[in-house]
Amino acid sequence: MSGAGIELETDLSIGVERLEPELETTVYRLVQEALTNVAKHAEAGVATLRVSDDGGWLDVLVSDDGNGFDPDGEVDGFGVVGMRERVELVGGELEIESKPGSGTRVRAAIPLAVEAGLGLDEAAGERAAN
Ligand SMILES: Nc1ncnc2c1ncn2[C@@H]1O[C@H](COP(=O)(O)OP(=O)(O)O)[C@@H](O)[C@H]1O
Ligand SMILES: [Mg+2]
Repeated sequence: MSGAGIELETDLSIGVERLEPELETTVYRLVQEALTNVAKHAEAGVATLRVSDDGGWLDVLVSDDGNGFDPDGEVDGFGVVGMRERVELVGGELEIESKPGSGTRVRAAIPLAVEAGLGLDEAAGERAAN
């Protein structure tokens, strides 16, 4: 892979010991695909991985200072589609901000209420009640 030479900055600050296994897999795959994309496509100098939790949500950000792309354009890979699907399956949302020439930010907000053993509907209810 042409990823050699990219500097990775990480900032992991989550208060929970472990995530529920389904979420852990979701986050792992998401980060894996996003960082693979940085290595494969971005020609970046620096990539950043930030994971934090805040108010019942897990926030995952993978950004790079590479060449960017048009996230609304046609894509032939399954990586971006797969990331979005996985995140939405656990009730979260994926947002990609990128422009040709100005780097990429892949950001996922994932509800942690699922972790407490609540179903997705109940988790949504909990959020609405808060
Ligand atoms: N971090 C990134 N920097 C630049 N381009 C990207 C980045 N992530 C994705 N892309 C672009 O989006 C396309 C689709 O990505 P993806 O769905 O993961 O497919 P694949 O990685 O198999 O090409 C890539 O081919 C690439 O052109
Ligand atoms: Mg990919």
